[in-house]
Amino acid sequence: MPDVAIALVVHVLAVLWWIGGLAFVTAVFLPSLRANQQGDALAAFHAIENRFEPQARIAVVLVGVSGLYMLFRLDLWSWFVQPRFWWLDLMVLYWLLFMLLLFVLGPTGMLKRVMRHGGEQARIWRRMHNVHRVLLVVALVIVAGAVAGSHGF
Ligand code: HEM
Repeated sequence: MPDVAIALVVHVLAVLWWIGGLAFVTAVFLPSLRANQQGDALAAFHAIENRFEPQARIAVVLVGVSGLYMLFRLDLWSWFVQPRFWWLDLMVLYWLLFMLLLFVLGPTGMLKRVMRHGGEQARIWRRMHNVHRVLLVVALVIVAGAVAGSHGF
C-alpha cells in the first residue's frame, strides 16, 4: 500500500515541522525572551509568531488530511473506542484544538486578548510560556504513544 506509506510520511514530516516549531518557541525562544527583557520583547515574539503561523497552518492541515486518509484507507474507526489506542483519540483532539487556535481564535484576535488579560508583563509572559509548555508536553506524549502503540507496545 504505497499510498498509505506516502500518507504516513507526509503525516510524520508535517508533525515534525509543527511540533518542532512549538518545541523551539517553548524551549529556546520564550526562555531567552524572558531572560533578556531588553527592547521590545513583544515585538520580537510577534515577528517570529507571524512567520511561523502560516507554516504551522499548512503543517496542521497536512497532518489532518494525511491522518484522515489513513483512517479511511485502513478503516481504523474501531480504534477510537479501544483504550490501547488512546493516542489516536488524543491526536484528533489535539489537532482540533490547533485548528481552533490557528484558524479561529488567532485570526480574530481572541487569543491575544485572552493571553494579555490582566496582570503585569512578567505574569503575561509566564502564562504564555506555561501554555506552550503544556502544549509541548501533550504533543510529546502523543508522539511517544503513537510510535510505541503502532509498533506493538
Ligand atoms: C486529525 C488528526 C489526526 C489523525 C486523524 C491522525 C491519524 C493517524 C493515523 C491513522 C496514524 C497511523 C497509525 C498506525 O497505522 O499505526 C497516525 C500516525 C501518527 N500520528 Fe497521527 N493523526 C492525527 C493527528 C496527529 C497529531 C496531532 C500528532 C502529533 C502531535 C500525530 C502524530 C502521529 C505520529 C508520530 C504517527 C506515526 C506513528 C508510527 O507509525 O510510528 N498525529 N496518525
